[in-house]
Amino acid sequence: MSDKVKLHLPGSTEPLELDLLKGTAGQDVINVQPLAAKNIFTFDPGFVSTASCESKITYIDGEQGILLHRGYPIDQLANNSTYLEVCYLLMNGELPNKAQSAEFDATINNHTMVHEQIRNFFNGFPRNAHPMAVMCGVVGALSAFYHDSLDIKNPEHREIAAFRLIAKMPTLAAMCYKYSIGQPFMYPQNNLGYSENFLHMMFGVPCENREVNPILAKAMDKILILHADHEQNASTSTVRLAGSSGANPFACIAAGITALWGPAHGGANEAVLNMLNEMGNVKNVDKFIARAKDKDDKFRLMGFGHRVYKNFDPRASVMRETCHEVLKELGGSQDELFELALKLEDIARSDEYFIEKKLYPNVDFYSGIILKALGIPVSMFTVIFAMARTVGWISHWLEMMNGSYRIGRPRQLYTGETHRDYVPMDKRK
Ligand code: CMC
Repeated sequence: MSDKVKLHLPGSTEPLELDLLKGTAGQDVINVQPLAAKNIFTFDPGFVSTASCESKITYIDGEQGILLHRGYPIDQLANNSTYLEVCYLLMNGELPNKAQSAEFDATINNHTMVHEQIRNFFNGFPRNAHPMAVMCGVVGALSAFYHDSLDIKNPEHREIAAFRLIAKMPTLAAMCYKYSIGQPFMYPQNNLGYSENFLHMMFGVPCENREVNPILAKAMDKILILHADHEQNASTSTVRLAGSSGANPFACIAAGITALWGPAHGGANEAVLNMLNEMGNVKNVDKFIARAKDKDDKFRLMGFGHRVYKNFDPRASVMRETCHEVLKELGGSQDELFELALKLEDIARSDEYFIEKKLYPNVDFYSGIILKALGIPVSMFTVIFAMARTVGWISHWLEMMNGSYRIGRPRQLYTGETHRDYVPMDKRK
């Protein structure tokens, strides 16, 4: 059986043979690299048909609704593992044994504080700045403080930078929130687990001893696991592209944060909650569904649809369960929002438009409801996504840096003016 694809080029008698590359799962891909030598390029805006790299980290089967990290199904990881265990898995390829896990946790704990001067950065921002704007700035600024881990050619530096990023993101995220409400920053408590520590820095105050509810810390940990990685999405591809030029890891992760911010990507969890609040009542669901289906209306049902999943997003199923657990623990007014979301999901999933276009709830449809129930303000939702995704970004960056790579440099289909001569100002129309 041939593992080649024949391409008949105009003006050539012999077809060009291109290799069909096979992965361990998923689609085969045509290696189009030899086309450049023939001065031919492919056209694929939005990278709909393009594999940008080879990777061993995460596998998605969008038709079946399957998501595997290093081979392990996401629901098994979310229900049995911890976020730091998943971090170890993504970075190293295997689940840690007891000793490795303890060592990894201790290493991350060792790096949770940020340089004291980073506090000064926050004072430069307005208190009402969007926390994602602040995160773009302060994460990029980390490269100004950690010169001892910036040599990207040194594997030890790369690893320390990865540990620092994973460890410091919750500290920075919580600082964003504390700054916005005018409360003092809380230092990390290294005897606490990763998610517990984050909730402590978010909601603790220096004048009181507040215990973090373990059920809520567990829910937070699940949210982080479910957002930890998702192969070559927009922000991860941005991190890889920035990294391909030799930029330092802190700068690359800051680039990833900017790409994540948009409402089509990480900003969707914030958009879902705003949408549900605007909807307000089950009576309004039909009106919103009608708007989502209207070709002349730019409105989309936020939290629905995915470039890769044409089936239920497996993360959304776990998220819905977690929603139940958290609301059972907390009760109260959040239930109304959840009921509204369930109703919306029911109606959308039986609607011809959504069925035909294979639009299912995605991970962000339920995550906002849980985050809100945990007391996290809507503007912080995407920051939490960024915090969780840092390990995915850095694992992809490490994979790229540990292997061989070239600077990412796409080509274009030029449709602008062809050559024309400069016209002096007094001769222009
Ligand atoms: N509501 C209504 N119609 C939709 C929606 C939606 N949420 N999503 C897609 N469609 C329609 C779209 O109008 C188009 O229709 P047509 O073929 O008639 O022009 C068709 O479905 C295909 O949409 P597309 O925009 O070509 O698909 P895409 O793969 O480029 O976009 C998406 C994927 C996630 C950006 C899109 O589904 C969307 O905007 N969803 C809402 C935002 C959202 O929830 N984003 C979170 C994604 S999951 C978290 C993450 O990965 O960051």
